[in-house]
Amino acid sequence: MELDIADLAGTEALAGKLAAQLKPGDCVLLSGPYGAGKTAFARALIRACLGDPGRDVPSPSFALLQSYDAPGLTLHHFDLWRLNGPEGLTEIGFWEALQDVTLVEWPERLGNQAPPGALLITITPGDGDKRHFSLTGWAASDGRALPGPAGG
Ligand SMILES: Nc1ncnc2c1ncn2[C@@H]1O[C@H](COP(=O)(O)OP(=O)(O)OP(=O)(O)O)[C@@H](O)[C@H]1O
Ligand SMILES: [Mg+2]
Repeated sequence: MELDIADLAGTEALAGKLAAQLKPGDCVLLSGPYGAGKTAFARALIRACLGDPGRDVPSPSFALLQSYDAPGLTLHHFDLWRLNGPEGLTEIGFWEALQDVTLVEWPERLGNQAPPGALLITITPGDGDKRHFSLTGWAASDGRALPGPAGG
């Protein structure tokens, strides 16, 4: 699914729709260059799951992992940019985390170890606050509907 998003509010709205569909075992891979909006998307998604729009959701770029307990759902937000090779995945508890909901920035660091059935979201920056979102994965794996365009 391909979506053109006008601004940060549009990104947050899309994240909110996805949040409503998440279940344990889901893995969302967030791909895109520096400043694309991977953390912004994850932050909005986590806040929606927590039902707390003011919740502090720091970028896990230094800690590599931040975890959150939402009602009926635990979320793990990874940023793998600083990962030290694939063995680092075991050290940070990546494999156990997959039983919950995982959000993964810089999934390229997974190499060929990306979880099968993950939802891949690729964010491409456009002019100003515009972003292009490309979502692939779930439609093929379990038939779940992907979030439609903003307002739809
Ligand atoms: N439509 C949009 N969607 C997401 N972020 C947007 C949008 N428009 C503007 N922004 C801004 O772009 C920036 C995105 O930064 P963010 O930290 O989310 O990027 P990132 O992809 O996580 O980068 P990094 O690779 O450094 O982790 C934020 O300052 C955000 O406010
Ligand atoms: Mg980030």
